[in-house]
Parts: sequence; structure tokens; C-alpha cells
Amino acid sequence: MKRKVTKAIFPVAGLGTRFLPATKSVPKEIMTLVDRPLIQYAIDEARAAGIKEFIFVTSRGKSALEDYFDHSPVLEQELRKKGKTELLETLKATDMESGAIAYIRQHKALGLGHAVWCARRLIANEPFAVMLPDDVIAGEMPCLQEMVAAYEESGGNIVAAMEVPPEKTSSYGVLDIREDHGSMVRVGGMVEKPKAEEAPSNLAVIGRYILEPTVLRNLNKLKQGAGGEIQLTDAIAEDIASDVPVYGYRFRGQRFDCGSKAGFLQATVAFGLSRPELREELAGYLHEIIQTDKAAQ
Ligand code: UTP
Repeated sequence: MKRKVTKAIFPVAGLGTRFLPATKSVPKEIMTLVDRPLIQYAIDEARAAGIKEFIFVTSRGKSALEDYFDHSPVLEQELRKKGKTELLETLKATDMESGAIAYIRQHKALGLGHAVWCARRLIANEPFAVMLPDDVIAGEMPCLQEMVAAYEESGGNIVAAMEVPPEKTSSYGVLDIREDHGSMVRVGGMVEKPKAEEAPSNLAVIGRYILEPTVLRNLNKLKQGAGGEIQLTDAIAEDIASDVPVYGYRFRGQRFDCGSKAGFLQATVAFGLSRPELREELAGYLHEIIQTDKAAQ
């Protein structure tokens, strides 16, 4: 029986070492694209997909995330006093219904699979979404919303997938395609971080998943995989052998890898250009520096 997906896990317990020293005291998920932290983009996408319960798997040093989704009475009072209604309005995006958000600690960064497993008691026996906030996806329809619609048709496990160049497969989980139906592919196997010559395809998994609770049971065995980490892809791949289908979903939007510096900068430019109040000034500046750069070469 297919059930509604109403819970999402946000694994945010990683160390974010690629952004040190910034991430020494600022959680990666609080870093901002224009004026909104990465986590806000993920929460908005989850809400659009019908998610009602938000489960954060956090670690030491992530309290800024908890504060972000809390009320800030002093700030709100001050804005109200000054008649700054537009600014008060922007704060609404951070409102969370009481009890809708839960925080679980992952005591050691043992890998993404382990982080998801830490939330097992809050998921129990339901399908659930997993969202990695460092993958920011811009598109007409939010990616998770597309995936929930696909899940309502197919059931099973669905992972967001995109084509990557062969030299990049070693950074991703890669799908072994059994049947290709265009936007949906039936998966026959998954390999974590294969070298180009060992990759079964160039269709890579990115940070959006809809998973059956069977994956949590697979994670109970908690075997270490590639890089000594407990891998979520291994637990999903185990379902294939027990006939719970796994699908790759080719989403339509543009994905930015905001866990890397280059991806984060690209997203900053793209989201800046998409804002009417910034577009002209930013585009002019980009044009100017490209001209200067060309002239200097
Ligand atoms: P990354 O591989 O990007 O690791 O994790 P990271 O620690 O965030 O960043 P770098 O590589 O050191 O710069 C992908 C996602 O999985 C979460 C991270 O928080 C991130 O959202 N994660 C990873 C956990 O929650 N726990 C883990 O043990 C590992």
C-alpha cells in the first residue's frame, strides 16, 4: 500500500570541512545565498511537497539552526515598533508550528546512512523523505514535489538523479540502470563513489530521496562502506535484492552543489540574478569584470 510522505529528515551533522574556517563556528546550512540560509531553501521545498514534520539530525555546534526556526520576540517587537511590516513578513518563512520540528543528535559523524538511522524512532513504519540542504535545486516545480508525485504513482524507493561527466562519478553514488523510462529509471544496483572506468552509468544520486521504512531496517545492520562511512546508498541498494523497487528520478531543475565552494559561488550568482531588485546591478558588474578579465589576458 502506498502511503503519504509527510516526514522529512535533514541530515546536518557533517563537519563541513570544505568551508573551514567559516564552518568552525557557523553551520554550513546557515550560510546564505543572497539573504536566505541554505536550510531555508530546503524547508521551502519540503513544505511545497506536503511535508509536515521536519526532523533535523544535528551535532555539536549547530545551535544556530535551532535558533533560526525559533521566534525572536525582541527582534519582532523592534520591527513592529518601527513599522517594518515587510521585514516582519520575511520572518514568516522561519515560522514552525509547535511540535513540527524535531532535533536528534548524531554523536559521531559516522556517515549519511548513520545520520538517517539516528532518526529511525521518529519515522517508525512510514515512507519518508531525506533532503541534503547543501544540494540547492532551482526549478519551476520544487524537486521534492515532483518526486512525491512520482512516488504516489510508483511507491518504492526514489532517489533524485542527474547525469554527471565521467570524471565526476567518484564523487557520487552511481546507478546501475535496469530499465530506462525517461524521467524514471528502474535501478538494478548502486555503487558508491566509483572511478570512471568502474561506474555502471553516469547517472548520479543527489541529495533528495523518498525512502521506504525497509531502508531503516537495512541500516540496523550498520555496515561500513566506501571511505569507512555508513552509506545510505548501500542500505537502499540492499532493498533491490529483497524486491522493494528502487527508482532514479531525473528531476527537471538545476542543481547547485553548495557543499563545494565553486557550487556555492555559482548558486550565489544564479539566485542573485533571479532577484528583480538585484538583477540589473549584478549583471552589469559581472559583465564589467568579465570584460576586464578578457582585456588583461
Ligand atoms: P558531506 O559529505 O557534504 O559532508 O555530507 P560534510 O561534513 O557536510 O562536508 P565536508 O565534506 O566535510 O565539507 C553530506 C550531508 O550529509 C550530512 C552532512 O551534514 C551533509 O548534509 N552528514 C554527513 C551527516 O549528517 N552525518 C554524517 O556523519 C555525514
